[in-house]
Amino acid sequence: MLKDKTAVITGGVRGIGKAIARVFCENGANVVLCYRSNDAEAEKTADELKEMGTEVRVLKGDVADPETAKKIAELIKTDFDKKVDILVNNAGITNDKLMMRMSDEDFTKVINANLNGAFYMMKELSALMVKKRSGSIINMASVSGLKGNPAQVNYSASKAGIVGMTLSAAKELGRRGIRVNAIAPGFIETDMTAVLTDEQKDNAAKNITLGRLGQPEDIANAALFLASGMSSYVTGQVISVDGGLIM
Ligand code: NAI
Repeated sequence: MLKDKTAVITGGVRGIGKAIARVFCENGANVVLCYRSNDAEAEKTADELKEMGTEVRVLKGDVADPETAKKIAELIKTDFDKKVDILVNNAGITNDKLMMRMSDEDFTKVINANLNGAFYMMKELSALMVKKRSGSIINMASVSGLKGNPAQVNYSASKAGIVGMTLSAAKELGRRGIRVNAIAPGFIETDMTAVLTDEQKDNAAKNITLGRLGQPEDIANAALFLASGMSSYVTGQVISVDGGLIM
């Protein structure tokens, strides 16, 4: 489904990003994965993915730094013939605290990583996509950005921002052949949610229509749909993949 396509996935070495990278490679894509700090994890993921036979590159860099997006664009220009077909803005962090205890830095750090990072990446890579008049951008939102969550003022703001940015970018880029959509995951079992106790997870599952937490593969399958020609008439949409948590 993605044969000979090139995809950039931020935070692609673990969790949801890794599941997306895996399904993209399984479907024939070359992938460039950006990660922030864990070299061993990045190398291990790259080795696993390379077994599927497509090109896999990992690049260390903080998406909150605009230089990282520039470096990735440079890599696409030099090593991938200036062609990037898919961008998945997946990298994200939480720093949950009640607002009364949230410092300015707690707030800004999450916005910088989750929202500014996606902006820098979209700006750099859509400029390359425009030249080919083709591309699919997928931004990772969250149920928290749609309905809010206590102790997540920073995170909800970043993810609501992702939704607005997705809609505006879709309107700007549609006539240039580029689709821009977002996925709003519900409660997905990854390192991000591993801090919760089994009791907290059981309680969370009680509010989910399908009665279970999601797996990274549930999000990856939605990303495959949005990245591929299967969704060629879909843009400016926020697809909730949350087991019916919000309905
Ligand atoms: P995770 O914590 O397992 O993985 C996040 C990845 O992003 C890591 O590889 C990390 O190194 C990378 N990353 C974080 N900040 C970065 C930065 N500044 N620069 C470069 N890389 C950075 O998280 P998970 O669960 O896989 O989440 C992926 C995305 O899905 C995030 O945007 C998250 O907000 C979103 N999401 C996750 C949900 C869940 O329940 N797990 C629910 C809703 C949304």
